[in-house]
Amino acid sequence: MEYIEYFEEIKKHQSCRDFTDQPVGADELKQLQEYFHRCRRLIPELKLEMLVYNATAADKIGRAAGYNGFLIGAPNYLLLFSETGDHWLENAGFVGEALTLKLTQMGIDSCWMTINDGKAIRDNLVPDLEKELGVLIAFGYKAKEEKLARLDIKSPSNVKMHKRTGPYAAPKIELSDLLYNKKWGKPVDVDLIYRDLKEPLLALGVSQSFFNRQPYRVILDDDIISLIAIPDEMTSEQDIKLGQGIAMFNFEAVLAAHRPTDTKWHFEAPDRDLGLPEDAEFVAWCAI
Ligand SMILES: Cc1cc2nc3c(=O)[nH]c(=O)nc-3n(C[C@H](O)[C@H](O)[C@H](O)COP(=O)(O)O)c2cc1C
Repeated sequence: MEYIEYFEEIKKHQSCRDFTDQPVGADELKQLQEYFHRCRRLIPELKLEMLVYNATAADKIGRAAGYNGFLIGAPNYLLLFSETGDHWLENAGFVGEALTLKLTQMGIDSCWMTINDGKAIRDNLVPDLEKELGVLIAFGYKAKEEKLARLDIKSPSNVKMHKRTGPYAAPKIELSDLLYNKKWGKPVDVDLIYRDLKEPLLALGVSQSFFNRQPYRVILDDDIISLIAIPDEMTSEQDIKLGQGIAMFNFEAVLAAHRPTDTKWHFEAPDRDLGLPEDAEFVAWCAI
């Protein structure tokens, strides 16, 4: 079982919206399937099924996925179906992120597609499957060389181009804005965070999200971090939970590189006062 340097892949990853026609080869798809069966899960009890399609699936997906019904044309699509149950969407996002990073490691580009009508997609592609569609990712090889300018999507009517300054893809929330110290609203001195913890936090802070909205914050304590959801009217309940799963994967996978034993996320609230405002919602905590 090969080792993935998740932090390196997370820094490398950026969404691709312009693919060549070249389909991903059978060897790589086999590696992806193998990785899918053994990659970490948030809720291991929930059974998942990963199906990979070629470009012709786009006709069957139609406007049921993509921003404003605009599905990115790609030589391959990855669909992750899941049993439903508590936190099934967070789990699907978590595993979807693992798969995205495996693709990145293999030099394959990808882009998450928001699912506007999962039932329609399932009925058109696999009507007999008794699982719900959780994740849809377009993937293949990027058509153009990476440009320095990046897309900053605040909303469909507010899209700006930014010059890339750091190693990361789209502009992301700064650690100083993401983190609170023990209680909501209390600032963290980012310079004092030791490297073993800073890398997992940076990985969480550059997570992909619907329209790059990143509707969450993190409360840092001596022994745990808590992921907190903040309201975001633009993002659907489904994409909010997928985004939380992505953020949780990035943190857990990078932390694991610095810890002898794996730490896991827990969904029950910790026994302490986080001082949350009314519109913020506790999501999960993870021992550090
Ligand atoms: C749940 C989810 C849904 C997304 N849906 C779309 C989409 O429909 N179309 C698209 O072009 N990008 C989509 N994205 C990609 C985001 O726009 C992208 O992750 C974000 O802008 C950050 O850019 P980066 O991935 O390059 O860091 C989606 C991302 C997530 C996590």
